[in-house]
Amino acid sequence: MKEKEPEVPDDFERMWTDLAPVGRSARSGGYFRQPWSTPERELHEWFLEQARARDLVVTTDAMGNTVAWWGTGGRAPEGGVVTGSHLDSVRDGGAYDGPLGVVSALAALDVLRSRGVVPARPLGIGVFLEEEGSRFGLACLGSRYAAGELSWDRLRELRDPDGVALLDAVDPATAGALEADAGVSAAERLADLRRQVSVFVELHVEQGRALVDLGHAVGVASGIWPHGRWRFDFAGVADHAGTTRMEDRHDPMLTYAMTALAANKQARLAGQRATFGRLAVEPNGTNAVPSRVTAWLDARCSSDDELSALVDGIARQAQERSQRDGTTLTVTAESVSGLVSFDPDLAARLAADHEDGDWPVLPTQAGHDAGILSAAGIPTAMLFVRNPTGVSHSPAEHAETPDCLVGVSALADTLERLLG
Ligand code: GLV
Ligand code: MN
Ligand code: MN
Repeated sequence: MKEKEPEVPDDFERMWTDLAPVGRSARSGGYFRQPWSTPERELHEWFLEQARARDLVVTTDAMGNTVAWWGTGGRAPEGGVVTGSHLDSVRDGGAYDGPLGVVSALAALDVLRSRGVVPARPLGIGVFLEEEGSRFGLACLGSRYAAGELSWDRLRELRDPDGVALLDAVDPATAGALEADAGVSAAERLADLRRQVSVFVELHVEQGRALVDLGHAVGVASGIWPHGRWRFDFAGVADHAGTTRMEDRHDPMLTYAMTALAANKQARLAGQRATFGRLAVEPNGTNAVPSRVTAWLDARCSSDDELSALVDGIARQAQERSQRDGTTLTVTAESVSGLVSFDPDLAARLAADHEDGDWPVLPTQAGHDAGILSAAGIPTAMLFVRNPTGVSHSPAEHAETPDCLVGVSALADTLERLLG
């Protein structure tokens, strides 16, 4: 289907070229921009440079969530229209998940300026920290912090896969800022976010194939499926791989293996999603029965009830199997996000009246900072840009530049209307 001819901001391709080498694996072509690692910090510096080059006013909270503002009139930002996304990635992820929203936001601001728009209220371009949860295990760490979802005790407990505490992993200035912020209540932090942000729009690469199948370059999100992460700790007895008779073993790997199969089967039967994508084995030796297997379940369902039922069902089958294997199992919820419904009026307005007809309005199974802000009571919308491979969280994730430019134009139109 034909799309409207997009405006071409001068800088879109240049910005994209700037980012292309940062954190890229020569082996796979994928990216790893782990929060507070050198590549992610380089991207953060790049964002600050882009803000400086555009004379934007930068504000940063204690966690390091950063917003570059236009049109604050020298005052503290209030009632802003905010867009943006994140710059971190999953392990061996694609180029687009996160950065496309940030680059498109900067490009949309350039388009608005070239149209001569004078913002009647501030426009903010936000970069949230650790959206993927690839380091400290908690997805949307930055936006959850900003929304007052994280207690000081919870923050202090967070550890990366090497056991490094969040407060030791961040730079000393951020650690100091977080400590200084410890006395701020959740309610105060949420009120501060709501004071600054009156509406949030996130542009994101699509993480599935719907737009390819429907023949549209851009779509609009209706909401986000409930989803979460659960840690399954299977404990058994370490022993010799050769001399221990098969019937004498208490092997947590077996309990885990059956649990992974059960999760897949239960999710398929229920029409939902369940994945074990991360595993830690102790002692992790080829010739030893393991003493411990830790596995993380990622589950996503179309309703909150379905999610509880699926995770309960998987945990129940795992417990039954662990009794048979003579192992033990504890299941810990690390993060759970309920159903998100984006602002329906905003979504309908974004989707309506394009040259190629109305754009599709679709739910997504992927988590986003937009979901956290929506749950915090901020009217929120998302635009998706077609991904021809339909693949995401993988080096194969892709978007064609002409589609990205349709997305930039759509974002600029939306922001212009919201700013007016
Ligand atoms: C983030 O992209 C998620 O859905 O896990
Ligand atoms: Mn992602
Ligand atoms: Mn993302």
